Amino acid sequence: MLEVLNDQDYEQFRKVIYDQCGITFSATNRSILDSRIKDLLRKKNIATPAEYLSIVLKNPEEMKLMLDSVTTNLTRFFRNQPHFDAFINYVIPHVIEHKKQGLDRTIKIWSAGCSTGEEPYTIAMIMKEITPPGFDFKITASDISLKSLMVGQQGFYADSKIDGIPEAYLAKYFTKVEGGYQVKKELQDTIRFDYHNLMNDLGARNLDVVFCRNVLIYFDEAAQLTVINIVLDAMASQSY
Ligand SMILES: C[S@@+](CC[C@H](N)C(=O)[O-])C[C@H]1O[C@@H](n2cnc3c(N)ncnc32)[C@H](O)[C@@H]1O
Repeated sequence: MLEVLNDQDYEQFRKVIYDQCGITFSATNRSILDSRIKDLLRKKNIATPAEYLSIVLKNPEEMKLMLDSVTTNLTRFFRNQPHFDAFINYVIPHVIEHKKQGLDRTIKIWSAGCSTGEEPYTIAMIMKEITPPGFDFKITASDISLKSLMVGQQGFYADSKIDGIPEAYLAKYFTKVEGGYQVKKELQDTIRFDYHNLMNDLGARNLDVVFCRNVLIYFDEAAQLTVINIVLDAMASQSY
């Protein structure tokens, strides 16, 4: 019989997760952490949470797997349409106006906490449609969940996942395949999927737009501040 996280196990996992990636578990969502760690123990055939924690602490790859398993990756195409309306009608026109004053013609966008790719592909489709001649764009899509990044990189979405994509975009940027839709290469090529923990510097600078939606909600105030400062460092002076 597998052991449930006792108070000490819970505290230890909670602290490691928080220190590594800022995700905060509190009394109200303790049961989520409990069930995800139990799943891992079952899959790996490990008897106790304490034993698993000692493996995690010794092995960086196992740490990544554990962190991946405690993330919440809910997302969808064109999630929260008003954000994209503002992006199209306000943000990108301003970015272009500003860029016209300099020599750089590449609009650089970061989808931070991109999950399985629906957000960066949404941005990419929009950018394909609205980027004016003489300009181009590139998107970095990052997440701490390797499983999610692999889905994004693959670009296959089951029929049940494509809700929200306008018909015309679906026809233009996807190929119908068995059981779902495959993103076309021309769209995939505009995105670089990257494993990145938002608690660390991305290394990029002068980004024009950063999407960091539905990510900070999993952090407490101190971790939010750390992430916001890291994101700010990556942004250009006139950016969104
Ligand atoms: C709910 S999803 C949001 C996806 C997308 N931005 C959206 O709004 O639809 C949150 C994502 O943030 C990622 N995440 C959580 N903590 C992170 C961290 N410290 N570094 C990078 N990504 C993180 C999770 O793995 C998850 O995929």
